[in-house]
Amino acid sequence: MAEIVVVSDQQAAGELAAESIVELIRRTPDAVLGLATGSTPLALYRALAAQVAAQDVDVSRVRGFALDEYVGLPEGHPESYRAVITREVVEPLGLTPSLIHVPNGSSEGIEHAGADYEAAILAAGGVDVQILGIGTDGHIGFNEPGSSFASVTRVKTLTEQTRRDNARFFPTEADVPMHCITQGLGTILRARHLVLLAFGEGKAAAVAGAVEGPVTASNPGSAIQLHPHATVIVDEAAASGLHNLDYYRYAYANKPAWQKL
Ligand code: F6R
Repeated sequence: MAEIVVVSDQQAAGELAAESIVELIRRTPDAVLGLATGSTPLALYRALAAQVAAQDVDVSRVRGFALDEYVGLPEGHPESYRAVITREVVEPLGLTPSLIHVPNGSSEGIEHAGADYEAAILAAGGVDVQILGIGTDGHIGFNEPGSSFASVTRVKTLTEQTRRDNARFFPTEADVPMHCITQGLGTILRARHLVLLAFGEGKAAAVAGAVEGPVTASNPGSAIQLHPHATVIVDEAAASGLHNLDYYRYAYANKPAWQKL
């Protein structure tokens, strides 16, 4: 079972997850971070940048792999995940840009971009901690409902729901790309630790399905139930659909001090 941690707000979630990542980087200075984009991880990235600066943590050798990228946006487009990762993660943390990878979503060479990305993750020794958000339809990465649990990085078609959800980042819904390239559920499950964050009532059903629903490709987030070390950090609203909430609170409150996140 994933560990469920209910916190008061996004800032508290960000600080908690950031503390665990700072510890990881202290233990493993060339740690490999799996980086989600979207709104959800922003508080975590802000907290991480603040902790890295305040504690003077050396992040020069930290490596990173983004979860996904849109296909076909012009190079340098401000909403490309390459640009978002640079703006929200690489620059504020002071990471070494050449060590941070994003799937290649340019149409040139798109046929082998997935296989290239998988090879790069394997060559790096795999991802130490994979940060995840979750879509309202349960997607993680851009693995939409129906994605195989064995899937690897590949080109996918976004659902209309996801394009609607992401229209807030673009002038109109029609400007949201139709295709993306995303790490597969199989890729995500190979990471050594999954940290899934979710906030707000709009995510409550997806979180409940991922944590307590049947393990099914119809709810890609439910793949986390197959992982031996998954942590789900949610605010009260995102936790509101969970049946066993009292137990999760009780277990976290009584967690042995030596156990880390
Ligand atoms: C982003 C990603 C997506 C988002 C999800 C939630 O790299 O892989 O799975 O995590 O769409 O998006 P937000 O956080 O914007 O609600």
